[in-house]
Amino acid sequence: MSGHGTPIPMTSRPCGPLKGIAHVPGDKSISHRSLILGALCVGETRITGLLEGDDVLDTAKAMRAFGATVTDHGGGEWTVSGVGVGGFAEPQNIIDCGNSGTGVRLIMGAMATSPITATFTGDASLNGRPMGRVTDPLALFGTQAVGREGGRLPMTLVGAAEPVPVRYTVPVPSAQVKSAVLLAGLNAPGQTVVIEKEATRDHTERMLQGFGATLHVEETSEGRVITLDGQPELIPQTIIVPRDPSSAAFPVCAALIVPGSDVLVPNIGLNPTRAGLFTTLQEMGADLTFENMREEGGEPVADLRAKFSPDLQGIVVPPARAASMIDEYPVLSVVAAFAEGVTDMQGVKELRVKESDRIDAMAKGLRAAGVQVNDGPDWWQVTGLGHGNVPGSATVASELDHRIAMAFAVMGMATQKPVHIDDGSPIATSFPIFEGLMADLGAQIVRSNT
Ligand code: S3P
Repeated sequence: MSGHGTPIPMTSRPCGPLKGIAHVPGDKSISHRSLILGALCVGETRITGLLEGDDVLDTAKAMRAFGATVTDHGGGEWTVSGVGVGGFAEPQNIIDCGNSGTGVRLIMGAMATSPITATFTGDASLNGRPMGRVTDPLALFGTQAVGREGGRLPMTLVGAAEPVPVRYTVPVPSAQVKSAVLLAGLNAPGQTVVIEKEATRDHTERMLQGFGATLHVEETSEGRVITLDGQPELIPQTIIVPRDPSSAAFPVCAALIVPGSDVLVPNIGLNPTRAGLFTTLQEMGADLTFENMREEGGEPVADLRAKFSPDLQGIVVPPARAASMIDEYPVLSVVAAFAEGVTDMQGVKELRVKESDRIDAMAKGLRAAGVQVNDGPDWWQVTGLGHGNVPGSATVASELDHRIAMAFAVMGMATQKPVHIDDGSPIATSFPIFEGLMADLGAQIVRSNT
């Protein structure tokens, strides 16, 4: 099954040392938000380093459908001429967000308080994911939503013509839900308040402030209380998108498990709400160094060097860290397979509702490759075999999930025998240059049908 055209079977073979500089693409979360916030300003926002993966390109198309002018100038340079807060036009066609939960949920929020109707759909993965977590709070503004059973796409939203401001405690740790409510709050009068018990990535808050909105964050006993003043006039910005730490995770983790490796990944965004993987890897004994720490465009940035780490140990990854590395568990579980002892990942229920059920998808493929995995509703444990001892010789399913496909590609670089991936096509959603970038470092990933 492929949601992205023809399936692309891939084989990742054990390889020699990975060496060199890996320029990974722009941050996916910041790229989506740059386009959406640009569309909500009157005037021209300039974006450098936009991720040109399918997920973000679908959001660019959607912003055009809502009336913004989005122009690709080549080389990651884009401009967005927006329509202003509350200025979205009604799209003439169905909005197809492809594989992207972030795209659809943020766009739903952004249109929810304008007097327009829009219908959303996606690929087989996205159409299976829960949207009630977004449409429930949007209903408090006065937005109506009709979708398939279980709050699934395709779904039509009728924006609130006279929205009221909302106070909402997010019931699951989700930056997408938080962001959808804040974006909806932009066109409601008065103050919209969002409370999150566990901090999730805060790009929306930082960027709203950067675009001139009045937004305050207070840490209280209730959690993080975010207060947004409604109906601001957003001011167009020049945005330099940092490179994606979630994409950096793949060459970094590959370097840790392939003997002799030494890889530099420059300009990585190290927002603390995103950097949990690197803390975890260091606790496991990874040889990671952060060079040239600096701040760019309101986000902390550094160059990250990763070297082969012969003494990786399994650890307990605490629930409190989950949100800051939620997309990195698939590749962490691969590193865990090459460590000594058990890696115990706790408080990760959200992994079950990502592009795939990521615990299930990784557990199946790791077991097929000879690694013991135990799992429960919100936890999983990988029993490491140590370097050189993971058999491989497996065919694994990517389940329409880019991060599953890339995690298994990394695994195959250090197993005894190759790893075959049924479909690598989803990789294009977030990391379209993955195969070439890894090949330049020395990886041997081939398309099995060529
Ligand atoms: C994202 C939030 C996270 C993450 C996703 C990107 C975002 O999802 O998994 O890849 O940009 O807000 P949740 O909000 O479901 O945790």
